[in-house]
Amino acid sequence: MAQLWGGRFTKETDKLVYDFNASISFDKRFYAQDIRGSIAHVKMLAKQGILTEEEEEKIIEGLNGILADVENKTLSITEEYEDIHSFVEANLTERIGDVGKKLHTGRSRNDQVALDMKLYTRDEILEMDGLLKSLLEVLLKLMKEHTETYMPGFTHLQKAQPVTLAHHLGAYFEMFRRDRSRMKDIYRRMNTCPLGAGALAGTTYPLDREYTAQLLEFDGPTLNSMDSVSDRDYLIELLSAMSTVMMHLSRFSEEVIIWNSNEYQFVELDDAYSTGSSIMPQKKNPDIAELVRGKTGRVYGALMSLLTTMKGLPLAYNKDMQEDKELVFDAMDTTKGCLALFTGMLDTMKFRKGKMADSAKHGFTNATDAADYLVNHGVPFRDAHGIVGQLVLYCIEKNKPLDDLTMEEYKAISPVFENDIYEAVSMKTCVEMRNTIGAPGKAAMEKVIALEEAYLAAE
Ligand code: ARG
Repeated sequence: MAQLWGGRFTKETDKLVYDFNASISFDKRFYAQDIRGSIAHVKMLAKQGILTEEEEEKIIEGLNGILADVENKTLSITEEYEDIHSFVEANLTERIGDVGKKLHTGRSRNDQVALDMKLYTRDEILEMDGLLKSLLEVLLKLMKEHTETYMPGFTHLQKAQPVTLAHHLGAYFEMFRRDRSRMKDIYRRMNTCPLGAGALAGTTYPLDREYTAQLLEFDGPTLNSMDSVSDRDYLIELLSAMSTVMMHLSRFSEEVIIWNSNEYQFVELDDAYSTGSSIMPQKKNPDIAELVRGKTGRVYGALMSLLTTMKGLPLAYNKDMQEDKELVFDAMDTTKGCLALFTGMLDTMKFRKGKMADSAKHGFTNATDAADYLVNHGVPFRDAHGIVGQLVLYCIEKNKPLDDLTMEEYKAISPVFENDIYEAVSMKTCVEMRNTIGAPGKAAMEKVIALEEAYLAAE
């Protein structure tokens, strides 16, 4: 049991209490951030004349030594220490002697852990943004390839009107683009440095907080020391943004699962991204998509959990806040893992254009266009709606799509129909006529693709 306190205690900590309280098993993951923060703190202390230059040099050399040794695995972070802060400080003193004990001057673990978590979260946000960008790149590549891949668009999971695969995938492009912008917002809002807030009330040492903020690439110091050590808003915002990413991935997964089903057969998953059954030899299951859908619950759970942890906490620091880490780390790992896997699965998936077009054709997705045809020939829309309704009923009886009716069959229901009806209800016409910005027509889609391409090149 190695801890940073004990002077006012007359008894050893109970072993169960020690284990219950310790956080090293999970906070060891930000050892690099802890060391980076300490180096900035020491530089500032020396600049302010609180440490001598010699002390500064010794401490920084010691800290860099610990970092190198952990990284090359000659030093392992063992659980005999209470937390990562104790581990670093104890190791430092072992290496460089008593001068190591000066590291913690003008600092508390409360502002230290607040800093470490912010440094770690900033790195994670950048990583997550990179993964979202890779997903957008795959989506854009597919959109370019599929501006003429016709498929049914659905409402109520019923075939509604024809769209293209480019258009359908484009909807997900918008979702993940918004996710990126949420990440950016969170980064911008959280980018203030809590170091120097002390336990809660600042310190009596003449710290230069602007300087440490600058060394650590923050926009500036936080402006209230009590808030600095007890703010976990940015983690709640990030959990909310990650929950939204997962919600998007989960919806997309649900569609992949439907598209991959025997009934739809719109897609074929790559062997590398699907799994078999131990009993049914014919099976090729979409387990990755199902797991992404399933893991969404964990991330939502983390958001609810942290909100609940924070709701009753009086100012300033309370140990409850230590609970933020496991939740947030798990949600980060889950979201990043799901993004990477989903991107790979999407990139290797085959789209069965024939099946998609056939499905659009056999689902009367062109019924609205047949009604519009009549309207263009002078029939009031309400009557046109009725006439096409009769046509659809007739087609259902005959088990035919609208496209395959003979001219006699059309004329029997309305004399207004002429030969150009075939052109009017063809999948191509139905889609190509929809050319307002945001619609599936090829010209409109190409404009959007160009805009999205410029966006990806710029950010
Ligand atoms: N492990 C603690 C946490 O994660 C570090 C801060 C400890 N501060 C304290 N006053 N006990 O919150």
